Amino acid sequence: MSPESPAAGGPGDGPILVVDFGAQYAQLIARRVREAHVYSEIVPHTASAAELVSRCPSGIIFSGGPKSVNETPAPTIDPAVYDTGIPILGICYGAQLLTQQLGGVVSRTGRGEYGRTPLTVTGRSPLFVDWPGGGEVWMSHGDAITAVPEGFVATAASPDAPVAALHHPERAIYGVQFHPEVVHTERGRDLLERFLYDICRCLPSWTHTSIIESQVEAVRAQVGASPVLCALSGGVDSAVAAALVHKAIGDQLTCVYVDTGLMRAHESEQVEETFRRQFHIDLVHVKAADRFFEGLAGVTDPEAKRKIIGELFIRIFEEVARDLVIEQFEPGDDGSPAGSPASGQPSGYLVQGTLYPDVIESGSDSAATIKSHHNVGGLPDDLAFDLVEPLRLLFKDEVRAVGEELGLPHDIVWRQPFPGPGLAVRIVGEVTPERADILRAADAIVVEEIRRAGLYRDLWQSFAVLPAVRTVGVMGDGRTYAYPVVIRAVTSDDAMTADWARLPYDLLERLSSRIINEVEGVNRVALDITSKPPGTIEWE
Ligand code: XMP
Repeated sequence: MSPESPAAGGPGDGPILVVDFGAQYAQLIARRVREAHVYSEIVPHTASAAELVSRCPSGIIFSGGPKSVNETPAPTIDPAVYDTGIPILGICYGAQLLTQQLGGVVSRTGRGEYGRTPLTVTGRSPLFVDWPGGGEVWMSHGDAITAVPEGFVATAASPDAPVAALHHPERAIYGVQFHPEVVHTERGRDLLERFLYDICRCLPSWTHTSIIESQVEAVRAQVGASPVLCALSGGVDSAVAAALVHKAIGDQLTCVYVDTGLMRAHESEQVEETFRRQFHIDLVHVKAADRFFEGLAGVTDPEAKRKIIGELFIRIFEEVARDLVIEQFEPGDDGSPAGSPASGQPSGYLVQGTLYPDVIESGSDSAATIKSHHNVGGLPDDLAFDLVEPLRLLFKDEVRAVGEELGLPHDIVWRQPFPGPGLAVRIVGEVTPERADILRAADAIVVEEIRRAGLYRDLWQSFAVLPAVRTVGVMGDGRTYAYPVVIRAVTSDDAMTADWARLPYDLLERLSSRIINEVEGVNRVALDITSKPPGTIEWE
């Protein structure tokens, strides 16, 4: 459990702990709780009741999960949790688990429910005060609760779930078979709010302002007067992390932006404009395109490209960091700089834009999760940085909201994800300055037209790819032999799976004609209609 999470100040101030029983259900529940302005944390189902209690939670939610409670082994929870007096809400698998552990019956009825399902409220429950008698809910279950534990009452039913909701009138233990966290459940949000505000007595104190205030304090407490470095990538996470740390410690922060020559159009100018001119952050802009193109010359293997870019990035960052850190430290008693290897002290602090999902996925929230794409975790030992991770408690949507609140431009805050190796993994074959220019120009048109069509935020990613073939065309009186450009646009929730976006024909037509007319070296435009799986989002 997270040692640096906001401390509980009293009843109703403690976090909501979301117990993870598998799949992605827990993250969605945790996000919904935070949308109701209550801080939530995801915890493993293996946590003991004592560990849960030690976090002083205001309430506990058991997530759904892919298993059946009747399977062995199936994930379970320390039954002592039911005697703690902390309010509990079990959702789907969570409801079935508490039913079974408390003596009720969960059966394989042979008739599961999947998708939208009508629900009838059959009894009085504090969870259903906003429900007129029923509504549509989202179900996803094969097993059903067929008998409630002693002392419990059933308060809702659906065609194939005789007990679609239950609770114990005196013990603040609740269960719902359906998923209140998904948008397809009408009034799901109301139900969660009733649990949070009425049953757990939570205060709606988790706001973007409070997030900023608490992180500003935490960063100040962590770094004291030490120098802090931050590698800016042009992406959302490093930008918000930098802005937040700058708010906390001002001039103690130095940002380093390495222009690899593989950035999107106008990205470098925007970083300059935002961080140097708007925020007055001390920015070291390293123009290293030549070094990257030199390193990549003749290389066509995608993983080799990644490795070369990662290593070169580390080397350049290290050069800058060494200069900066040594410069900023006072000399030690022995004449060596205090932050130097001789002192045995960390050289300073390094900001990382690690997000909460990275922390959960790393399996241990105390482990420093290094984002692989910039590989700054690979810095040499004698440049030992301590990490500052001001976003490690936040989900992506919270990071964006914090970025807006801090005054970062919309373009940065809502920017689609971009791979660390940049355009190199969208240039199939050799990466040369000329080919990077072609792709950058085509990509800028894709982004501009997608934005103009109002689709930019709906798409997970939309970009251009440059294959390693050339094709014949005719332009004016002559034949051309030039590159095709492929348009790749996908919808996705998390990049694990993705669907190709059905872009309108008139948009595709504009993209095709603009790219061919405006980008020299391109004579054909194609559309990638591959989902993930079997394709990946990037081409390399
Ligand atoms: P794929 O292509 O595997 O990509 O479907 C999934 C997501 O990851 C991004 N991606 C990368 N990000 N370094 C990164 O930082 C990389 O080497 C890399 N390769 C892919 C991709 O843009 C998509 O969002």
